[in-house]
Amino acid sequence: MPWKSLLKLPDFGLFRQTADFRLSVSTLRINGILPSRGDVQVQAENLATQLKQDSVVEDISTDRGVISFKVNRKLLAQVSESALPHDRIRVFACCSSPNIAKKFHAGHLRSTIIGNFIANLKQTLGNNVIRMNYLGDWGMQFGLLGAGFGQFGSEEKLKQNPLQHLFEVYVRMNKEAEHNEDMKQAARDFFKQLEQHESQAVSLWQQFRQITVDEYQHIYKRLGVHFDIYSGESFHQDQAQEVVQQLQSQGLLKTSEKGTGVVDLSPAGDMNSVCTVLRSDGTTLYITRDIAAAIDRKEKYNFDEMIYVTDKSQVNHFNQLFQILLVMGHSWADRCQHVPFGLVQGMSTRTGEVVFLEDVLDEARARMLHNMSQAKTTKEMDNPEDTAEKVGISALLVQDFRGPLLSDYRFDWDRMLQAQGDTGVFLQYTHARLCSLLQRNADIDATTFDPSLLLEQTSMTILQHLLRYDEVLYQSAQDLQPKHLVNFLLKLCHLTASAHRELLVKGSPPDVAQARLRLFRGSCSVLANGMRILGMCPVDKM
Ligand code: ARG
Repeated sequence: MPWKSLLKLPDFGLFRQTADFRLSVSTLRINGILPSRGDVQVQAENLATQLKQDSVVEDISTDRGVISFKVNRKLLAQVSESALPHDRIRVFACCSSPNIAKKFHAGHLRSTIIGNFIANLKQTLGNNVIRMNYLGDWGMQFGLLGAGFGQFGSEEKLKQNPLQHLFEVYVRMNKEAEHNEDMKQAARDFFKQLEQHESQAVSLWQQFRQITVDEYQHIYKRLGVHFDIYSGESFHQDQAQEVVQQLQSQGLLKTSEKGTGVVDLSPAGDMNSVCTVLRSDGTTLYITRDIAAAIDRKEKYNFDEMIYVTDKSQVNHFNQLFQILLVMGHSWADRCQHVPFGLVQGMSTRTGEVVFLEDVLDEARARMLHNMSQAKTTKEMDNPEDTAEKVGISALLVQDFRGPLLSDYRFDWDRMLQAQGDTGVFLQYTHARLCSLLQRNADIDATTFDPSLLLEQTSMTILQHLLRYDEVLYQSAQDLQPKHLVNFLLKLCHLTASAHRELLVKGSPPDVAQARLRLFRGSCSVLANGMRILGMCPVDKM
């Protein structure tokens, strides 16, 4: 039996607990029966042998009917340390990172929201965070796009719907180039011009890039996400060549049978596992640019920690990246981390497959607006679209964040938008309900209150739950998984729902009303705070 279940605490607030704690068996009902005076010690011993020690409790002993739990000092110190003010560390978060002219897929949405969560969390814990978007803005696709735009492009359409139009041109040109040698050559020529920095090619490329960034910024704003820096693969082409030279001079660059430049990463040094950093035609690759980008960032921003967020298909890429940085002598690569996530299946809208992020946001808003218009509880609002947008995004977030990030999941509009159950809508609904309760009782002054009026089980459970908040943030910061926080907030909302039923404010004696209101206020502020870290914008009314 885990020791927690004996204490009948729904959860255990590690921070607020004194280092060790005791439990007198004479106060415990075991299987519903209070033990008789005579055999408390026997009972205590019996129980103690059944209790499992774990990472938190390292020793359990008994004495005259009292069970003593010794809390793991090292863990306590570790957890407390994170609560103490410490030197701010500089965290570099690299996320979102879509590819220009290509589809914005579910993976980019996940990278955007997960990266935002991690950045918010690190910031809340007192660190300096730099948020970077590393665009896929270089490579052969720009040859196709540049040459294709000459053939099928329209300035008009580019203005009206830039992402859509660039994508169309790219797809069409891609198809043409498959069977049309001239087209293929035109694309190659264009990319070559670009690599040689020819002004016309560069200025067209710049235009495509800028339009894309502008458009994305608009969409990120809807999501409540911002970036401090928009960088991209294009920034590091020259540096990538320098990296190759450096590898060469360090004796790390080998030539493969195919004539490509590789770095040997095999433990035995027998070329059993290599990473290609240079094509046979002398051009660099995605990984070469990533090596250059990492070194450049370290020089420019001197981060203490760097976190990359991408789907799990890139696990190997980042392993190789960190390994190469290490063999090049960059020991800080130890403090670089990749946070991989699983795939999303079946993300589509009413009009079909999702091509752009905006489609997903529009659909979430439209569906939520519809649900709100059907619900009897919906309040009069100044701007229902705005509320629907915020609630819809919360629904997306909870669906995405509930499980381990590495798991794949199936995108399900109906399920994620349910008002009851473990959804973002439920979080928002609870927040709005708490706001309305506080508003209705705004005349009650709850600056002081008597805590002894919060002794019923429902209040106690909520108080104990609220005390765990720091511990949950700490846990999320350890493994960078939002699920701890999401599940904590969902539980808080379930507890609040019972409290709404059982702990009436109106009609209670003034001192009781005051204490209860204080409890609701505490729940509301923890809920709002947690929601913001997840990337939600809590609504006051819905
Ligand atoms: N643009 C890449 C893609 O869509 C993701 C970039 C991830 N970040 C990085 N530094 N490699 O797959």
